[in-house]
Amino acid sequence: MKCSHGVLQWFLFLCILVWSCCETPLCQAQRLDPLEVEALKKIGSTLGKQWDFTVDPCSGTSGWVDHTTDEDSMRAANVTCGNCNATYCHITSIILKRQNLTGSLPDELANLTSLQSIILTRNYLGGTIPVAWKSLPLVHLSLQGNRISGSIPEELGNITTLNELVLDDNLLQGSIPSSIGKLRNLERLLLTANNLTGGLPKTLGNLKNLTQFRLDSNPISGKIPSFIVNWSKIQLLEMQGTSLEGPFPPNFSTLETLSELRVTDWKGGDGKFPPLENMKGLVRLCV
Ligand SMILES: *[C@@H]1O[C@H](CO)[C@@H](O)[C@H](O)[C@H]1NC(C)=O
Ligand SMILES: *[C@@H]1O[C@H](CO)[C@@H](O)[C@H](O)[C@H]1NC(C)=O
Ligand SMILES: *[C@@H]1O[C@H](CO)[C@@H](O)[C@H](O)[C@H]1NC(C)=O
Ligand SMILES: *[C@@H]1O[C@H](CO)[C@@H](O)[C@H](O)[C@H]1NC(C)=O
Ligand SMILES: *[C@@H]1O[C@H](CO)[C@@H](O)[C@H](O)[C@H]1NC(C)=O
Ligand SMILES: *[C@@H]1O[C@H](CO)[C@@H](O)[C@H](O)[C@H]1NC(C)=O
Ligand SMILES: *[C@@H]1O[C@H](CO)[C@@H](O)[C@H](O)[C@H]1NC(C)=O
Ligand SMILES: *[C@@H]1O[C@H](CO)[C@@H](O)[C@H](O)[C@H]1NC(C)=O
Ligand SMILES: *[C@@H]1O[C@H](CO)[C@@H](O)[C@H](O)[C@H]1NC(C)=O
Repeated sequence: MKCSHGVLQWFLFLCILVWSCCETPLCQAQRLDPLEVEALKKIGSTLGKQWDFTVDPCSGTSGWVDHTTDEDSMRAANVTCGNCNATYCHITSIILKRQNLTGSLPDELANLTSLQSIILTRNYLGGTIPVAWKSLPLVHLSLQGNRISGSIPEELGNITTLNELVLDDNLLQGSIPSSIGKLRNLERLLLTANNLTGGLPKTLGNLKNLTQFRLDSNPISGKIPSFIVNWSKIQLLEMQGTSLEGPFPPNFSTLETLSELRVTDWKGGDGKFPPLENMKGLVRLCV
């Protein structure tokens, strides 16, 4: 009697264990929220990316995640899911590097409400940066090396979660919106090789966490702003090929973390450089 009682208890315990496990997402294959599947179909067709929708986008299988580890080619094509409840998951990251995409930037990315990374570097994408993206909780946004035109939308300043804004090598025009100064968590602001004009907005002095700033090859004008001494964590500063005018702010040399400085061909000022003896980490200097 005693023995069979124990067996029954075991049986019940196992039943409860199996039942409770299968109620959690850990026990079943991840499944993408059907609303996001619809949005993703639209996104694929706007980008010019052929995804296989007979397979669940959160499955991590080939086609949705590129398992090839060809580091040299810098190619990548990964869709990553997360933020799951018992039934569905959400897309948290879309990485499509060097995929020969020839479409444009889809508004519908804004429908992926958990999206933290949009990495679309080195494709042939055109169009403008959608204002609708302003509602996304983005941490990484990289559109480097495409054919994106128009201006940088002021509304990007609303994405205060941004850590990295990389827009190098595109056809962007107009001035840098002063709202970019609201991105207090920004560490990398890379704008090289566009057609950006006007001066640097004063609000950029608020970006205390900035470690990398690249502006080279843009017709940006005005004086080298004194607020750059506020960038006390700056490591890389590139301002070659702009129309900025000197002199450097007198306390520029307080930026002790600077390790790479490229600032040739600026006009005006006394043509002299501020003393650099405090900059113990400086390993590359191009003036
Ligand atoms: C995206 O969201 C908008 C507004 O919330 C909605 O009207 C639209 O139908 C959605 N699009 C897709 C493809 O889910
Ligand atoms: C894409 O996902 C695969 C498999 O998880 C991973 O090995 C690879 O590093 C990812 N690539 C990128 C660029 O994140
Ligand atoms: C799970 O999340 C979806 C949205 O993706 C929501 O519609 C659904 O009600 C949630 N289900 C539970 C059990 O929380
Ligand atoms: C992109 O096009 C080049 C040249 O045609 C080709 O070698 C490469 O494999 C293509 N890449 C992808 C991801 O299709
Ligand atoms: C978004 O930014 C604009 C202009 O920078 C501002 O007027 C607006 O209040 C912001 N909206 C939100 C929701 O933060
Ligand atoms: C800046 O970076 C620090 C350290 O990484 C972090 O704690 C902080 O939240 C970031 N943001 C601001 C606005 O300082
Ligand atoms: C750069 O922008 C100006 C207008 O601000 C325009 O006249 C010029 O054609 C643009 N240059 C290129 C190379 O797109
Ligand atoms: C530099 O930072 C200080 C305080 O940390 C702030 O008061 C000032 O406005 C900033 N300077 C600029 C030009 O943004
Ligand atoms: C740099 O010098 C200006 C005056 O020339 C001063 O207002 C500012 O506080 C100084 N900033 C730093 C970081 O030393």
